[in-house]
Amino acid sequence: MKKKTRPRPRAARRSSKRSTRPAAVTVSRASARLPPPPPMGTAPRPAGTVPGYNSTAPTGHAAIPNSPYPLRPVGPVPEDRPQTARAAGRRETLALILAAGLGKRMQSRWSKLLHSVAGRPVVRHVVEATRGAGVSRTVVVIGNQADEVRRAVGDHDKRIAFAFQKDQLGTGHAVLSAERMLHGHDGDVLILNGDLPALRPETLMTFVDYHRAHAAPLSLLTTVLTDPRGYGRVIRNYGGDVSRIVEDGDANADERATQEINCGIYCVDSRALFRPLRQATRNNAQGEIYLTDLIEILRKEGRKVAAYRHPEAHEVLGVNDRRELAEAGRALYRRKAEALMRAGVTLVDPDSVYIDAQVTIGRDSLIEPGVMILGDSHLGEDVRVGLGSRLADTTIGDGTEILAYCVLGSSKVGRGCRIGPFSHLRPDSAMEDEARVGNFVEMKKTRLGRGSKASHLAYLGDAEIGRDANIGAGTITCNYDGVAKHRTIIEDEVFIGSDTQLVAPVRIRRGAFVGAGSTITKDVPPYALALSRVRQEHKEGWAKKHSPLARRGDGHK
Ligand code: UD1
Ligand code: CA
Repeated sequence: MKKKTRPRPRAARRSSKRSTRPAAVTVSRASARLPPPPPMGTAPRPAGTVPGYNSTAPTGHAAIPNSPYPLRPVGPVPEDRPQTARAAGRRETLALILAAGLGKRMQSRWSKLLHSVAGRPVVRHVVEATRGAGVSRTVVVIGNQADEVRRAVGDHDKRIAFAFQKDQLGTGHAVLSAERMLHGHDGDVLILNGDLPALRPETLMTFVDYHRAHAAPLSLLTTVLTDPRGYGRVIRNYGGDVSRIVEDGDANADERATQEINCGIYCVDSRALFRPLRQATRNNAQGEIYLTDLIEILRKEGRKVAAYRHPEAHEVLGVNDRRELAEAGRALYRRKAEALMRAGVTLVDPDSVYIDAQVTIGRDSLIEPGVMILGDSHLGEDVRVGLGSRLADTTIGDGTEILAYCVLGSSKVGRGCRIGPFSHLRPDSAMEDEARVGNFVEMKKTRLGRGSKASHLAYLGDAEIGRDANIGAGTITCNYDGVAKHRTIIEDEVFIGSDTQLVAPVRIRRGAFVGAGSTITKDVPPYALALSRVRQEHKEGWAKKHSPLARRGDGHK
């Protein structure tokens, strides 16, 4: 997939014109706690990130690597927007992800944010969306199962910091728990519920542009549902402006009928956040401090609240139970399938394949129905993956064919190989170019050299197999003595006859032959023939006396 330059929305063009002035350097006390953002637009960026909102680079956010989705225009931009220093400057946008809750509706021991969807924990998807949107820093509020959530987020990234919410007293309380972390931050805060796995970075960018264009202290993202049950409803006044959000449990019948819902995505001027939010009370059905009360508080102060209505509901719905988790997975897999098809991959039945976000597949590859390709898997060009196969963390070279019902994990396969049907490559298996394994062959920690074959029914574990070797049907490496594992070495051009047991540790030297049915316990010298089966003998005429027929008295004719 290639980097594409797209037409930029108006808001982005406007700001890049202004950004000819030098970027304002914000020195804040927060920088004592948070690592400073890299000087955007000049410093090398890690792969997969895009210039930030405060970027002075003329590209703005037009270049989204790997993004198959065009940016949506954001509606009317007021041309008469005041050109104050604040409005004109490229202010830093920080993301705040609320991830301290447990999620009771999941019926799980684990926080709902730890549940895996399309190969990643729910919360990780949200972090990736903020990263993809180019925010300079992300603060994650943790509390319930804090260590696990921190691990799921990944704590190696310097641009991610954590705030701790000791008691889970609601979303507003979660935001207040992060106040210290955001102290001194003079810009917008993009607040996100942690349960939005299908959220795309492009949507966040569009939303932040919308927020800037509308110059309101707070903007929220909404969507319309035919069945809005469970979500906070967006209540508008007669003029159509948002006046407040009412939670499902607090709503009256009229309010419940409202189909526009709050998605848990907000962009707030940091100066309009903490002071007003401290006025929120726990006087509601859940006895919690609701972040959503902030809207009514600001409106009562006579301030504007902007609402961006997102057309694709499935992308912005919080996951609360297993059914919604499955739906988010479906949306993510569908999105991946579409991106792959656009990039030249044939999917025979796109709705029946499950391909994780980070997987790459070269063009002219063909994926049959019922296939899962998971985790850190990378497939070359002209690869075929047969019906019902499952690949995880596996690399496949160009032109390799995987027939039906194969399971491959943490393995590396070269070019022009053939695998299956019904082959099992367990972790640390490697097949070099043009190697083949056939039905009911299991490999584990084994390298099969270039052009070598194991076509039927074999177990190859802890083995090193050279080039152009032939492993006969029924070959077994006896690698385990009950205590330790031992290695089998099979050098280039070796021929192992069918039904051979190789009792490890053992080495078959170059060009040697092993006769079918042998049990090999000693190393075999180069080019030798090894035979270790009982010699065949014949007892002449035995059956005429001893066969069942003979014993019944009928006799052989
Ligand atoms: C929230 C919104 C609701 C909106 C819905 C969208 C509030 C009061 N309500 O409701 O209007 O329609 O999201 O999905 O905000 N969390 C904490 N600490 C807490 C409580 C929650 O960090 O004390 C986190 C959770 O981990 C979760 C997020 O905040 O990631 C939202 O919490 P959740 O309980 O799912 O909110 P809803 O009740 O669904
Ligand atoms: Ca709740």
